[in-house]
This record gives sequence, structure tokens and C-alpha cells, in this order.
Amino acid sequence: MAYKVIQWASGGVGAPAIAAVAGRSDMSLAGLYVYSPDKVGKDAGTIVGVKKTGVIATDDMDKILKTKADVVIHTPLPSVVWGDDPDADLNIICQLLASGKNVITTVGYMYPKFHGPRVVRKLNAACKKGGTTFHSTGSNPGWIGDLLPLTMSSLSNRIDQVAVREISNFQHGNAPVIMFNIMGFGKTRAQFKKDSGRHARWLTELFSESIQMVADGLGVTLDKISTKTTLSLATRNHKTGSGTIKKGTVAGQRWEWAGWAGRKKVITHETIWRMHEAAAKDWPQGDHSVTINGEPNIRIEIAGDWIDSMLDAAALHAVNAIPHVCKADPGIKTFLDLPWIMGKGLVNVPKKKPAKKKR
Ligand SMILES: NC(=O)c1ccc[n+]([C@@H]2O[C@H](COP(=O)([O-])OP(=O)(O)OC[C@H]3O[C@@H](n4cnc5c(N)ncnc54)[C@H](OP(=O)(O)O)[C@@H]3O)[C@@H](O)[C@H]2O)c1
Repeated sequence: MAYKVIQWASGGVGAPAIAAVAGRSDMSLAGLYVYSPDKVGKDAGTIVGVKKTGVIATDDMDKILKTKADVVIHTPLPSVVWGDDPDADLNIICQLLASGKNVITTVGYMYPKFHGPRVVRKLNAACKKGGTTFHSTGSNPGWIGDLLPLTMSSLSNRIDQVAVREISNFQHGNAPVIMFNIMGFGKTRAQFKKDSGRHARWLTELFSESIQMVADGLGVTLDKISTKTTLSLATRNHKTGSGTIKKGTVAGQRWEWAGWAGRKKVITHETIWRMHEAAAKDWPQGDHSVTINGEPNIRIEIAGDWIDSMLDAAALHAVNAIPHVCKADPGIKTFLDLPWIMGKGLVNVPKKKPAKKKR
């Protein structure tokens, strides 16, 4: 029987998730929750540019809670960054879980243990009430910085350091609110410092969860996780899809989160973000990479349509997790608990011609 899927929010990640679910024979769309008033009442397919699904978008949470479904893919803007209540996402997730629907989110909580017993208890109680499973995923964090190094580590005899590096150029995207208001590109150094508290806390939680999960997966005890931010200012005006980055304002951000064992950085997670290919010329260029230094030294570079499709990748990682999450026992299931998530049944093979009838 096909998994019935509700989609929560239809933005950069939600839209490809809807399109993927609508196109799969083992899944069907059962509901869509939206925030944008102009999307309410429209067919989910029309909203994301695929053929009509028969599912009409609603902003009525009660309706969603009452809708029968196996799983909700939850991909809204994170409340930690937007709202006044930092628990808003957690509360919504718990209501969905308690209503009997498994939840897969990309909003955070990838390793709930990191947030302490209060969050773990709350999620577990909701799962118990609904007999459901909670899982959080993404492309990075979620795959590049988590599943990839853990998978690579199975080739190791000794691990000295795990180093994850994301290199992204946001030049062509059109997301002015996220780029300028939330991420702080286009601000002066002083303004960035003044405004970035919330964003920095959110990012630090997100990537620290990932580092802690990898550390637990590798069985290493961390003494602390440190954060370092370096800014690069534009040396000229840069025209981007989100607007102009003016000379003298933030055009590049380099973040490093490091998990330390004693005086040694054992797991580092670095993001190098540019608003234009000409920004921060002296920083590393190229593709995302995961390096394990040790015996042997292993390095994987990830190339492809990643810059444009990081959102699609996050969506598909969530969609491909559906069968595992729906089959799992109730409770919190991180990547350390679930079986290997694979693209099962996705190989594009030519259709077989029907056999000719024997006369
Ligand atoms: N780990 C990863 O690799 C990864 C990668 C990408 C994104 N993410 C996370 O996934 C989530 C979705 O990302 P995205 O790129 O899809 O974001 P987005 O396109 O900027 O926004 C997502 C949707 O949030 C809804 N929204 C509008 N106002 C809101 C509000 N006040 N509170 C909550 N939601 C509101 C809107 O839904 P409607 O349009 O339906 O009204 C919007 O389209 C974010 O939490 C992001 O941090 C994770």
C-alpha cells in the first residue's frame, strides 16, 4: 500500500518533496499545510508546477491533525530564526507526532540528545502518545557532514581527524530575505556583529548536533565544540539574484565548528559561503569535500548540480527516508538508529516491451 504523505510548507525544500511524492508509485500526497495566504485553496500540484494532485493547500492545523496519513514531511522556516517562540517548531512537530503521524523534518533536531533531556522527553512523549517515529534529515547537515563521514569511516584503521567542508556560491539564487535579513550578507561588519546573534546561535546548534552525532557514531568523547566566524567584505559592488552586495559589506562568510577531544580538533565542519564567485578570492574554491585523515587518508569531493539542488537533495533525503521511518519502532530515530537510506527503486531503466503473443 502507498504511504500517505502530508507536506508541511511548500518552499525551497517543500516544493521538490511534493513533486517527488506526487511522482512515486509507492507514495501519495494526503495533505499540504502552507503559511502563505495566496497558496491557501490551491491544488498542491499547481503550487509547485506539477500536474494536479487533488490535494488542496490549507492553513488550518486542525484539518491537518485530523487528516489520515502515515507521515508528515515538515519543512518550514525555522522558528528559532523567525519567530519569538524558539520552541514553535518543536511544539508543531510534537502535535503532529501525537496525532498519529510519523514526522520527518529538515528544520533541525537532527540529534535531539544535543539539546538535553527536556527536548528528548518532549519528543519521546509525543511519539509514545501517537505510536509514531521522529526523524530529522537534510543534505548538509544530514548527508555531507554526517552520513558520508560515518560511511567513509568504515574503511579506516585509525582516524586522526574528520574534516567536512561545504563551499557554496549563492550568486544565482533569489532569496533576499534569507540572504540579507537572516544570513546577514550585504551588512557592514558592525551591523553584522550587532544583528547576527540569533542566526549564529541557530547555525551553531544545527552544525553542533551534526558533529555530536558523528562523534557518538565514531565513539569519541568531545570536550567542547567551538565556533569561529570570518567575514570577507566586497571590494566592489556585486550584482546577485537576491540583490546588490555593496562594496565594503559582507560578501563572504566562513564558519568553522570544531569538536575537540582534549587539545585536538577531531571533527571539523566548515562552511564557505560566497554571494558572488568573485568574493573572498583567497578562500578555498572548488567542491564540497569530506576528508578523513588517518590510516588510510580518504577524501571525497562532491560535484554536480549541488549549488542549485542542495534544497532538492534535502527534500529527496527526506522522501527516501519515508519507508524506513514508517517501519521503525516508535520514538526518536537518528541516522545512528535507522537502516541505510538508499534510492531503492529509483534506477531509470527502459520499459520492457510486452511479450508478443504466441499464435
Ligand atoms: N539540512 C539541510 O541540508 C537543509 C537544506 C535546506 C533547507 N533546510 C531547512 O529546511 C527548511 C526549509 O527550507 P526552505 O529552503 O524550503 O525555506 P524557504 O523556501 O525559505 O521557506 C520555507 C517555507 O516556510 C514557510 N513559511 C513562511 N512563513 C513562515 C513562518 N513565519 N514560519 C514558518 N514557516 C513559514 C513558507 O511556506 P509556504 O510557501 O508553503 O507558505 C515557505 O515557503 C528550513 O528550516 C531550512 O533551514 C535544511
